Amino acid sequence: MNKKKLVVLISGSGSNLQAIIDAVANGQINGQIVAVISNRADAYGLQRAEQAGIATFIVASEKNQDRRQYDKKLAACIEPLQADLIILAGFMRILSDDFVNLYADKMINIHPALLPAYKGLHTHQRALHDGVKWHGASVHLVTAELDGGPVILQAKVPVKDGDTEESLAKRVLTQEHIIYPKVVQWFCEQKLQFQGQKPYLDGVAMDKPIIINNFAEQQEAC
Ligand code: GRF
Repeated sequence: MNKKKLVVLISGSGSNLQAIIDAVANGQINGQIVAVISNRADAYGLQRAEQAGIATFIVASEKNQDRRQYDKKLAACIEPLQADLIILAGFMRILSDDFVNLYADKMINIHPALLPAYKGLHTHQRALHDGVKWHGASVHLVTAELDGGPVILQAKVPVKDGDTEESLAKRVLTQEHIIYPKVVQWFCEQKLQFQGQKPYLDGVAMDKPIIINNFAEQQEAC
């Protein structure tokens, strides 16, 4: 089986990128990260990519820039890479419908909340404010609805007494580093496929996500 070509888009620290780099290096993911693209020149994730010998590109974004213009530049950067999968890993830009449609069934995202709860920004702060008992992260297929595409895999974590935004974010991020490589692994094994804006696992349409509870050192599919 040909290795799937992966392109990762980042804006910042790139800890999810690192988790995917590590999973490729240790053989969990049978794929090749052909490029990492950032909209910010100072994204630390670019250094992580360079250290791993992965090609990097900066498609710099500017304030008040026309979204479609930017996305055209981004698509022009991605085009020659012949990506099988575009992985949004903390890429902090809203993508235009044209861009999303160009890469329909080829783009996934990780969101730090149990979607459909807490779409958008400041998810940890909002979860704490609401006093929810459970929070987490979701990997989903990207569709034109922001953070609204079908969810593939979620990790649940408890919200604990005395949690701060930082402590909760840390607990969630640890789980992100497990579930994102897992989804990429499934895709590269062709266990996971996308068609008509739907995920299929082992050939069966997923009508609900798989949920893992890692907090108690156990994994259970619900
Ligand atoms: C993560 O919390 C991810 O869920 C969100 O942005 C953050 C990126 O973190 N989309 P990192 O750059 O991967 O460390």
